Amino acid sequence: MIVGVPSEVKSDEYRIGLLPVGAELLVKDGHKVLIQKNGGVGSGFTDDQYIAAGAEIVDTAEGIWGAADMIVKVKEPQPQEIKLMRRGQQVFTYFHFAAGKDLTLGCLESGACCIAYETLEAPAPGGKISLPLLTPMSEVAGKLSVQQGAKYLERPQEGRGILLGGVPGVEPGEVLILGGGVVGTNAAWMAAGLGANVTLLDIDLDRLRYLSEVMPANVTTIYSEIHAIRKYLEISDLVIGAVLIHAAKAPMLVTRNDLRRMKPGAVIVDVAIDQGGCVETAKPTTHSNPTYIVDDIVHYCVANMPGAVGRTSTQALTNATLPWVLKLAREGAHRLADEDRWFRPAINMDGGALFNEPVAEAHGLQVVPA
Ligand SMILES: NC(=O)c1ccc[n+]([C@@H]2O[C@H](COP(=O)([O-])OP(=O)(O)OC[C@H]3O[C@@H](n4cnc5c(N)ncnc54)[C@H](O)[C@@H]3O)[C@@H](O)[C@H]2O)c1
Repeated sequence: MIVGVPSEVKSDEYRIGLLPVGAELLVKDGHKVLIQKNGGVGSGFTDDQYIAAGAEIVDTAEGIWGAADMIVKVKEPQPQEIKLMRRGQQVFTYFHFAAGKDLTLGCLESGACCIAYETLEAPAPGGKISLPLLTPMSEVAGKLSVQQGAKYLERPQEGRGILLGGVPGVEPGEVLILGGGVVGTNAAWMAAGLGANVTLLDIDLDRLRYLSEVMPANVTTIYSEIHAIRKYLEISDLVIGAVLIHAAKAPMLVTRNDLRRMKPGAVIVDVAIDQGGCVETAKPTTHSNPTYIVDDIVHYCVANMPGAVGRTSTQALTNATLPWVLKLAREGAHRLADEDRWFRPAINMDGGALFNEPVAEAHGLQVVPA
């Protein structure tokens, strides 16, 4: 199989879909690997490293998309990429189809087999389902949310002028985290490590029990309901939105009126912005212009936070995706789906037929049983 890895073209995106080690393993398996010129540079990987791993460097995106049987990338295809997709080609990347009707219709029209990282499933403890190719990016975003929040609390960034960890004789900052899943847990570790007082809210009591066992003493777990949220909003310096209801729009937990309860110069980092956000005043921002202010509260709502730390994120993402890239190249998507029911939901569409029900519902389309 010819496996093609184009450079990412979405703004402020520095990741790449395959590391040199991935190229080497694919080549060992008898495949040909094409990497777009300088595609790995944003993540600190040079063309020479890919060449040493047995890959070929191709100058243009057209050269990659035109030759490859399977494309491996990071972000959803942009309009200029959708034009290059074709029937019979496997495209393995994040798609987030429910959030984009033009993207969905364009990919359907291309006839390509679209395999989405974010809908590949795995069994989790307690009969739950996890999304193993989404988890690494949530880990990155959770840690980054505190790093960014700490920065925007600085006075020159229009924050309250608070050092999250405090110093001897001065109290530390107060951090409120809404949602104790992957993002929330990583944010809590980070904020607690800095020495802040952390309050972590969730509606899942089993999750709260687990978190109260594993978290350090400066993290308090609280059941999430509107009175508790309002109480902690009043004392918080940094609020992190980290809720998720699978396949649905994020619940609205902080209203515009609630902002008046908060301390001027406090910071909200709404990580859940990619699912619509859990703060009424949140709207998506980019790394080039990440914050804005509403009612004296600094809002940070970057929809692709992991892109900022491309090297770490590329490594974390490809650690999780590479085994699937190898299996897909060996067996093809449909054989893999027949063998592995957890992989099956990853195939969102093929040959112009849509298989993903929430996506069909989001855009008023018909789903074809897989
Ligand atoms: N902006 C970015 O760059 C970026 C990157 C990665 C993830 N995300 C987003 O971050 C969000 C969280 O992702 P995750 O992987 O942590 O999800 P997760 O499923 O691991 O955790 C979500 C948690 O929210 C809790 N929750 C649901 N409703 C709640 C409520 N009303 N109050 C409090 N808690 C509630 C759930 O019980 C769960 O524990 C998602 O929207 C995800 O898409 C954004």
